[in-house]
Amino acid sequence: MCGIVAYVGNREAYPILMKGLHRLEYRGYDSAGVCVYNNDGLHLYKTLGKVADLERFVEGKDMSGHIGIAHTRWATHGLPNEINAHPHYSQYADIALIHNGIIENYATLKEELQKHGRSFTSETDTEVLVQLIDFIRMDNGISLEEAVHQALSQVVGAYAIAIMSKDDPYTVIGARKGSPLVIGVGDGEFILASDATPLVEYTKKVIYLDEEEIAVMTVRPDAEPTLRVTNLKNVRKTPLVQTLETNLEVLEKGGYPHFMLKEIYEQPKVIRDSFRGRINVERNTVALSGIIDHQKEFLSARRIIITACGTSWHAGLVGKYLIEELARIPVEVEYASEYRYRHPIINKDDVVIAISQSGETADTLAAVNLARDQGAFVYGICNVVGASIPRATHSGTYIHAGPEIGVASTKAFTAQVCVLTLVALSLAKAKGTVSESRFRAIINELYTLPDKIEKTLLLNDRIADFAKIFTYSRNFLYLGRGYNYPLALEGALKLKEISYIHAEGYPAAEMKHGPIALVDNEMPIVVIATNQGNYEKIVSNIQEVKARKGRIISIVTEGDTTVKALSDFYIEIPPTEAMLVPILACVPLQLLAYHIAVQRGCNVDQPRNLAKSVTVE
Ligand code: AGP
Ligand code: GLU
Repeated sequence: MCGIVAYVGNREAYPILMKGLHRLEYRGYDSAGVCVYNNDGLHLYKTLGKVADLERFVEGKDMSGHIGIAHTRWATHGLPNEINAHPHYSQYADIALIHNGIIENYATLKEELQKHGRSFTSETDTEVLVQLIDFIRMDNGISLEEAVHQALSQVVGAYAIAIMSKDDPYTVIGARKGSPLVIGVGDGEFILASDATPLVEYTKKVIYLDEEEIAVMTVRPDAEPTLRVTNLKNVRKTPLVQTLETNLEVLEKGGYPHFMLKEIYEQPKVIRDSFRGRINVERNTVALSGIIDHQKEFLSARRIIITACGTSWHAGLVGKYLIEELARIPVEVEYASEYRYRHPIINKDDVVIAISQSGETADTLAAVNLARDQGAFVYGICNVVGASIPRATHSGTYIHAGPEIGVASTKAFTAQVCVLTLVALSLAKAKGTVSESRFRAIINELYTLPDKIEKTLLLNDRIADFAKIFTYSRNFLYLGRGYNYPLALEGALKLKEISYIHAEGYPAAEMKHGPIALVDNEMPIVVIATNQGNYEKIVSNIQEVKARKGRIISIVTEGDTTVKALSDFYIEIPPTEAMLVPILACVPLQLLAYHIAVQRGCNVDQPRNLAKSVTVE
């Protein structure tokens, strides 16, 4: 969590830092802070609340200067308050540091430092790190860079940090392990940030720092800018400068009231992009280079293990159904946080698929490393190019959904499921478990999905209307069977994360084994009851709910009559293959959650307690 941005160069730092923090705010938003250097030293301000609160707080102060660091926090150690907010000073306010991650051995380090007379003002692990760096520097009379090396060698945990010091107001030092950091190399300037969004308008040249790398960026008025990258062992590294592909438009709301709504509406395009160059309808083929180059591993796999968290885990569950149905390879789906710690059996002929929008989720990354270390072949499905997970896996496929800013994942889910469909299809083709005609039917149907989503989006006003009725509901149940079961889980997650209404997703038939006890005339029950698979069975499940006076909101296939007649509200979606329904039917579920949350006055893009990129365990 947390957003980090730092600047050193020939421009005024403060406006660049603030603009950058706004872009990074999705990563954490309980408190924020900034530090700049000008004539008379370091100036550090922090406040509880959002970046806009920080801006108001700082108004009128002298924030001039060409170097600075800024932070938006998602607390792990210590309450969100002004004192625990970053940047943190060292004891004598010589050094200021911002941090994303967790210093796991902070308590031991803190105790040691206290024995040496250091006192602490905050409850954070971060303050321990800045004090440790400063202590090592002063105790040994060494440079700040050398002290950072030594201190980081003692640290257990994850970090992305940026540091500035009053003794060298031309240098920013950044370092990372387990949390992302990217350096924008501009004309006479460096911008360091948690992701590339704060640098897009200044440069297209970027360097993604590698694990355990330390970057020293210096811009003196009378000399050429310098960048030195070393690793923890003090070995000099030659950074790879890459070209950034994101542009400014995709980072703005483009007329929509929220990023989430914009991202819901982007889905037809996102799906087209996820197929581009991968599906060839004439030749009846699907080509994913991440699979083609490693067909041996995939085809000799005894089983596939999909690991992920949250929405990506739900996509993984759809992936299991797809791969098992089409390619007939057994698939297990694991929460990364459980998988990494439960001593799982990992065989050399297992293929592990890690799914992560951000590519930075700490648990998923740890699961990837574990599987790799134990000899499994690891394949990633990620959105953010160059993130830690795609770099840690043996191969993979990007979903190409573009930046997803809304904390609640929408377009990344649909794109993940699309890519998983392509994975299942290409494995099925290679294994000969699907006929040519069936294969053709599925890819032809995939091609029609963007248009069908366009059509489904036309239901927005209708959904917004009846969402009003449920503004004050306290519980929701989401039911589905087969491919629609993971979708029920995803629909419930969307609602609870942005509206704070308790919602549970369930396999429809499981309902009678417990949750049916909750059903009464106040309980809205969302049923995904499209017309394939177990249609008659789900009709019976709806009857069971109706008999207990539950209020049915159904998602049905156009032309349906039976379920519609049983529903209090219904949403009709165009017909499609059962296995593709999750891609289409997630759209009305996203809209329903969105409108209920808006009606309740919730902060849709930045729901409370959440952050977009969960880089802590
Ligand atoms: C989705 O709406 C959530 N915000 C969350 O569950 C998310 O999917 C999860 O944290 C995993 O993130 P990732 O895909 O970036 O790894
Ligand atoms: N551990 C630090 C804190 O609590 C940083 C948290 C984070 O990266 O989210 O302030």
